[in-house]
Formats: sequence, C-alpha cells, structure tokens
Amino acid sequence: MENKKWSEDSQEIRKRALIMNWQEFSVMGEKDKTVFLNNIETDNPFHVLFSQQFDRRSLDLLCQVAEKARMIHKDRVEGRKFLKSLLFGTYALNFFHQPSTRTFLSFQTAQEVLGMGIRDIRDPSTSSEAKGETLEDSIRTFSSYFDLIIMRHENEQAAELGAWVLNKSDRRIPIINAGSGKDQHPTQALTDVYTLYKSFDGKIDGRTIVMVGDLARGRTVRSLSYLMKNYRGMKLIFVSPLHLRVSDDIRSFFDRHQISYREADNLREVIPVADAIYMTRVQDEWDQKDQGEPIPGQVKIHQPINPKYKFKKEYLDLMKENAVLMHPLPKRDEIDEEVGYSSDKRVVFWRQERNGMWMRVALIATIFQKENEILNWQ
Ligand code: MLT
Repeated sequence: MENKKWSEDSQEIRKRALIMNWQEFSVMGEKDKTVFLNNIETDNPFHVLFSQQFDRRSLDLLCQVAEKARMIHKDRVEGRKFLKSLLFGTYALNFFHQPSTRTFLSFQTAQEVLGMGIRDIRDPSTSSEAKGETLEDSIRTFSSYFDLIIMRHENEQAAELGAWVLNKSDRRIPIINAGSGKDQHPTQALTDVYTLYKSFDGKIDGRTIVMVGDLARGRTVRSLSYLMKNYRGMKLIFVSPLHLRVSDDIRSFFDRHQISYREADNLREVIPVADAIYMTRVQDEWDQKDQGEPIPGQVKIHQPINPKYKFKKEYLDLMKENAVLMHPLPKRDEIDEEVGYSSDKRVVFWRQERNGMWMRVALIATIFQKENEILNWQ
C-alpha cells in the first residue's frame, strides 16, 4: 500500500510519535497534532480527525476530485471499472459505535465505488470489547486485517486515540473520524463545503451562512465552523435557543481568525440575508443522562421544536433566489415536512446527502494518493 517516499515520511512521524505517550499527545495543539496526522509529503490529511487539518488548497482539491469522480462514474463501463481499479485489493472497516444512516451508507458506497473490500462492526456487543478488550487493542487488531478504519464513537477522543495507536504501530493505516461525540464530524463538514461549492459554482468566499438549532452539541456545526476560516469574508449568523448557543471555543476561534459572526433570535428575520441556511436538529440524545435512560424498545418522545427555530414552508418566499436550504440530516420537525418534498431547487439537503458519498470517494482516494489518477482520467 505504501510507496517508498511515504514510508520514509512515516518513519519520521513514527519516531516522534513513539517517544510521546497518549497523555502528552492528547494535549498537543491542533497545529502540532496535524504534523502527526497529515501526509508530510502532500500535506493532505492521512488520518482525518478534525476540520482544522484542512486548508483551502486541500478543500479545493477534494471538491475537484469529487466532481471528477462523479463525472467518471457516469461512464457506466470504463469509468466505473477505472474507479473500482483504484483501490482494488484494499480493505476498509466501518466501525460504528453510534447510530448512523447516511454517514455509514455513504462511506460504504464510496468504498465500493473505489473497489475496496468492506466489513463493518455496528454492534460492540459482538466484538471483543464485550470481553473487556481496550479500544487501543481493538484498533491495533483491526489494523491487522484492514487498510482503512472509519470510526464513529461517542467518546470525543476515541478516533484520536486510534490514530495515536496506529502511528506507533508497524501497520500505520489511516483512520477517519465519522463523528466523535459532541465534538466533530469532519466528513460531514467536507460534504457541506462541497454542497456550497456546487451550489455557488465554486464561489464560497463572502457568503452569509445562517446556522440554526442545536449549536452547542451539534458536531456538524462545530466542524463546519472550523472550515469557514479557509474562505474569505464569510459572515456567520447563529440562531438557537439560549441554552444551545454556540460554545465559547468556537467563538474564540472566530475571534482569532477574524471571522465575522453574530447571533440572532429570530430565524424569519435573517432568512432574506442568507446565502445558505443550515438547519440542525436538537441533539436530545445527550439529555438522556439527566432524564434517565430510555426503556429498551420504547421510542423516545421528542419535544416539539420551539416555532422560533423552525423553518416554515412560507419562509421559502423569503429566501434569496440563489440561496440554499441545507441540513446534515436526520431532520425532525425543525423543517416543515412539505419543504422536504417541495420541488424548490433551493432545498438541497437530499442532494447534500448524495454529495456526501462523492466527497467520501474523494477523501479516501486522496488519502491513498489516487487523486491525480482521477483528475487526469480522460
Ligand atoms: C451526526 O451524526 O452528527 C448527524 O449527521 C447530524 C445529527 O445527528 O443530527
């Protein structure tokens, strides 16, 4: 899997990683961690843990690779055969400790597009974790059989711990964070950026993005916010109930990077200025600790959304002509049901989920340094 140059780089990275214990590694700043996580030669992420690993160049590259892969795939014979040949004979493990529909399926389909062999673990009670194996040992074990690990976990540092273990091992395979607790969901943020890229013909700079809903616990909001530093003149407007306001670390990130942001209490009022409205659901699974565990098999009753934070059908009339309505999904009542099935082209969340598959194709291909083969395909 590794070419010679990459092996030399990884020797260097391993040397540094080996002398660091987990406690030392885990408290390093994102910038320093990125040295361990990115491919030194290409400066593209190798392990994908958080959005701060991406710069403008790598984001533009991923969008271009996603576009080209999508185009190649339309050639149902030669194009699809070519894409499948790129990672034929490599194997991916999708290790999902938390529920997932889109992220899981889009990763799986992306791996299939690229010709990878695929296995998954979605129920930890069926793995040796149930016998008391540590996460570190499980990750090291996965690397004995696979060339790529995709991991979703409720523990915010689990994927990072995995990357640290893998960097120290003889089988340094990439790990991608597919959602880490309340902290980050970098591949959703890449999907969102690709959706903006497609919606605005590649011109994301200077746009006004309104983010709505659970801005405190929504990991997609956090990851997308971090990516905004790569675009010039962005204006962000946050609309949420007081107890779900965007957190202080994101605010200070915006201040440090001079990203303009403000808060508003009324969604209706800010719709006319938005280029993109990014709705999110209330992440009430995190409330369960306070409310007692749900009874197994019993469907949790969700509190209805406060109407102030709901996108109503008539709001479509207030949107700019070229604005887009996005949602990482799943959605509940924060968007009027009819909106999802309207023929209004500005409602893009179904396209956004399909974009997620192409972005994951691009990301995996780039991790395995296949991006030029895709871009140069005739
Ligand atoms: C996530 O996994 O964070 C989702 O895609 C968004 C959500 O669950 O609301």
